[in-house]
Amino acid sequence: MIGTVIPRVGFLGAGKMATALARGWLAAGLVKNDKVIASDPLNQSRQAFRGETGLRAVENNNEVVSSSDVLVLAVKPQTMAELLQDIRRSVTGDHLIVSIAAGVALRQLEEGLGPDRRLVRVMPNTPCLIGVSASGYAPGERATAEDIALVDRLLNAVGKAFRLPECLLDAVTGLSGSGPAYVFTVIEALSDGGVRVGLPRDIATALAAQTVYGAAKMVLDTGLHLGVLKDMVTSPGGTTIAGLHALERGGVRAALMDAVEAATRRSAELAGKVASSQ
Ligand SMILES: NC(=O)c1ccc[n+]([C@@H]2O[C@H](COP(=O)([O-])OP(=O)(O)OC[C@H]3O[C@@H](n4cnc5c(N)ncnc54)[C@H](OP(=O)(O)O)[C@@H]3O)[C@@H](O)[C@H]2O)c1
Repeated sequence: MIGTVIPRVGFLGAGKMATALARGWLAAGLVKNDKVIASDPLNQSRQAFRGETGLRAVENNNEVVSSSDVLVLAVKPQTMAELLQDIRRSVTGDHLIVSIAAGVALRQLEEGLGPDRRLVRVMPNTPCLIGVSASGYAPGERATAEDIALVDRLLNAVGKAFRLPECLLDAVTGLSGSGPAYVFTVIEALSDGGVRVGLPRDIATALAAQTVYGAAKMVLDTGLHLGVLKDMVTSPGGTTIAGLHALERGGVRAALMDAVEAATRRSAELAGKVASSQ
């Protein structure tokens, strides 16, 4: 029973994502130092986790399972089968199990851990590492309303999270999972444009990144329609419409839409591969 009581959280895998989530949840007061533990086979990873979070990290996965209410499966997809096999006997219906592994389906988690497990599958993205993630999550059939509310609260403490049916998690991967790389490319291209018209590189990159950050914040803070925000800065015969015309000629919208579609397709392909390797 988790309820509104602060849960005991155990991370299986003490890598980058586990460290980022632990730090975010501690900072938000959603977990307490003495109620979080992680396991990792690698001494170096355990030490790094301890150093960055001040939390306990042990070698034995089952020690984490037996002392936690919420288990966060934070290993790479390739090592998930091994982890599930290791913890299968100690996981019970009292645990809420949250997997953040890309491409590992709820069905595969059920097969690995046994029936009647309370599962939630999450697809976060790299800005989670700085507390600004965009995540999609899909609860399994046995997850309770309380479980779902808890996961929603935890994920929203390190960014924004949206509940979706599992069949849409490949689309989340194609948009927000892979999206930071698209935006890095956009920022780099804007910076190149700035250099082309005479700006020093460091200033061009800072201007480009700050512009993307500011524009994104305006979208989120105002809630205004994107077309309205665009029209607000596009005066007749002005500079912005000249730039927008060039973007349209370059097919920037179609290119970004294609990027999301291609990455979604690839995510589904890779999920098939993970499934067949288990
Ligand atoms: N990084 C991201 O931006 C990102 C974004 C979205 C989703 N994810 C997902 O998050 C998951 C974790 O990613 P990450 O970047 O945090 O990976 P990571 O830094 O490699 O962390 C995974 C950790 O789990 C350990 N591990 C491996 N097998 C284990 C086992 N059987 N029992 C316990 N621990 C084990 C690994 O140790 P070894 O080094 O010894 O293998 C490693 O320290 C991945 O599934 C990834 O798909 C990551």
